[in-house]
Amino acid sequence: MHRLIGAALAAAMLLGAADAARAQQQPEAAPEPKIPAQQWSFEGVFGTYDRAAEQRGFQVYKEVCSACHAVKHLFFRDLTQIGYTEDQVKGIAAQYQVTDGPNDQGQMFQRPGRPSDPIPAPFPNDEAARAANAGGLPPDLSLITKAREDGPNYVWAILNGFKDAPKDFKLTDGTYYNEYFPGHQIKMPQPLSADQVKFSDGTQGTVPQMAHDVVTFLSWAAEPNLDERHRMGAKVIVFLLVMTILFYAAKRKIWSRIEH
Ligand code: HEC
Repeated sequence: MHRLIGAALAAAMLLGAADAARAQQQPEAAPEPKIPAQQWSFEGVFGTYDRAAEQRGFQVYKEVCSACHAVKHLFFRDLTQIGYTEDQVKGIAAQYQVTDGPNDQGQMFQRPGRPSDPIPAPFPNDEAARAANAGGLPPDLSLITKAREDGPNYVWAILNGFKDAPKDFKLTDGTYYNEYFPGHQIKMPQPLSADQVKFSDGTQGTVPQMAHDVVTFLSWAAEPNLDERHRMGAKVIVFLLVMTILFYAAKRKIWSRIEH
């Protein structure tokens, strides 16, 4: 028994020593800043997407992010789910030129987009995207809020995290300092600046606001069925409550006839 306790103590001391050694190896490694948590309408068991925010977010994506980032899983027709009418979607699609073909001469050709087309990507391939972005590859954004831990807060933080680099920080050419990007050097220039996007509903285009709206849009893109799932969840809970009350009443009724 004593031997066991001794062995456990020795192991604990060894582990402690290893920890101390590790701490000593990286004396200056500053702790990564904590990603600030925002309020999201779609959080929680009964959360739903805010339609107006989704539409403003699409506008931000279209006017800013779509210069570099694709949303390859989205088709124009999907936009009816965020409250655009079929005619509005036709109008939006028609503003884009998409490649179609080949025609009878074997040539590819450009034509205005249709609701059944995928939303076109800004670059034909990754190489072209890198060439235009100083070697950085702008990732596809249609699943980004799922692909990163704490996705919505992370993307919001990236968009708001551009700062001047601290004096002792060596920034490589073609990178920008971002407080929340791992390693702090990002190959994306700060995409949002105040009043860059004019919203027709009177919402002020501050950077935090535009970031909030585009993240709402991207969260919908990554998980379009969330509203329906949450509505179904609410129905199931109401159903279970009603059944519980009914069964309890039935049980009382049945057992009331029995002497105890
Ligand atoms: C001028 C081109 C450009 C624009 C405009 C742009 N980005 Fe980027 N973005 C990039 C590049 C390049 C990267 C890759 C950065 C890297 O790997 O260092 C990137 C990376 C990102 C990342 C990924 C961070 C990660 O964890 O990999 C997110 C999120 C992002 N952009 C969101 C946006 C959003 C939202 C917008 C619109 C508001 C936007 N970007 C506009 C070029 C752009």
